[in-house]
Amino acid sequence: KPVVLSGIQPSGHLTLGNYLGAIKNWLPLHERYDCYYMLVDMHAITVRQDPVLLRERCYEFLALYIACGLDPRHNVLFVQSHVPAHARLAWVLNCYTQFGELSRMTQFKDKSSKHVDNINAGLFSYPVLMAADILLYQADAVPVGDDQKQHLELTRDVAIRFNNAHAEPDKPIFTVPEPMIPPVGARIMGLQEPTKKMSKSDDAPTNVLYLLDPPDTIVRKIKRAVTDPGNEVRFDVAEKPGVSNLMSILAAASGRSLESIAAEYDGQGYGKFKQAVADAVVATLEPVQARYRDVRDDIQGLRRVLRDGAERASARADATLARVHEALGFIPA
Ligand code: TYM
Repeated sequence: KPVVLSGIQPSGHLTLGNYLGAIKNWLPLHERYDCYYMLVDMHAITVRQDPVLLRERCYEFLALYIACGLDPRHNVLFVQSHVPAHARLAWVLNCYTQFGELSRMTQFKDKSSKHVDNINAGLFSYPVLMAADILLYQADAVPVGDDQKQHLELTRDVAIRFNNAHAEPDKPIFTVPEPMIPPVGARIMGLQEPTKKMSKSDDAPTNVLYLLDPPDTIVRKIKRAVTDPGNEVRFDVAEKPGVSNLMSILAAASGRSLESIAAEYDGQGYGKFKQAVADAVVATLEPVQARYRDVRDDIQGLRRVLRDGAERASARADATLARVHEALGFIPA
């Protein structure tokens, strides 16, 4: 079976953006792929984390993966730091990635302008660790939101470069992965600032819909979302960013097309439209929230999932790392 891999940083709280851009699209993939989904704690520490919160987030996010419908029997769920091959391959790939390439990464430019007092080497080489995450599993496809596209292009470049340097053309060491980006929902924007993406590290909670927001909070946040003075419901990101974002949310959450949404709500003011968006989000999150508490409280169960996940992930990752070491000329222990 072909392989899919993706991951999320366990910081802040999971948002509707993470769900519609990533997790929701992961759910059906196990039927056609071997699926690996990580919590990337090593990526999270590229900005300062409180250890107590980081530990809590790892369990919270794992429980949410499962509550969203990722069944650990059909998907390998694991924590990045439990599989040492990630750090080991990242070192190797650091030596095959150029300073100039990393300097051009927009996520690095954003984060280094936000965290000016801590522009550490890990933040700079963040995309290299991500390339290691993906290439270790020989992933064919990587289901992510739009903001990860540039990192995936770098991953492909590094894979091709390493293959060219160390492998025969018909026996590549790394599979060159394809991004898998959903047609709607790949870029959910902030409710108050619809020109910026919705982010789990946002300090303004009214800008963000969290997976664990109670229904009345969701309704309130959507009713107060920024729109514009008109009453037209049409998809126009440049002229109507707020309305377009709510249309994307409704389309991705309900499976409806943007056209049918425009046809139903255009010209009627925003009240009825916003109610429909809120209803669709509440309906999407209700089953997740209903399952969450029980999953989260079963700490032994969660730890079993992670032990099993780490074992299955390591088996695949170690095989790739061994081939890389051999290709490099590292001698066996
Ligand atoms: P992270 O933790 O920022 O986000 C996790 C996933 O959610 C998607 N996403 C969004 N999609 C739509 N709208 C939004 N507003 C939105 N915000 C986030 C992201 O695109 C992502 O798919 N570098 C990655 C984590 C990572 C990874 C990997 C991903 C590390 N190693 C290997 C794939 C494969 C990140 O920071 O995601």
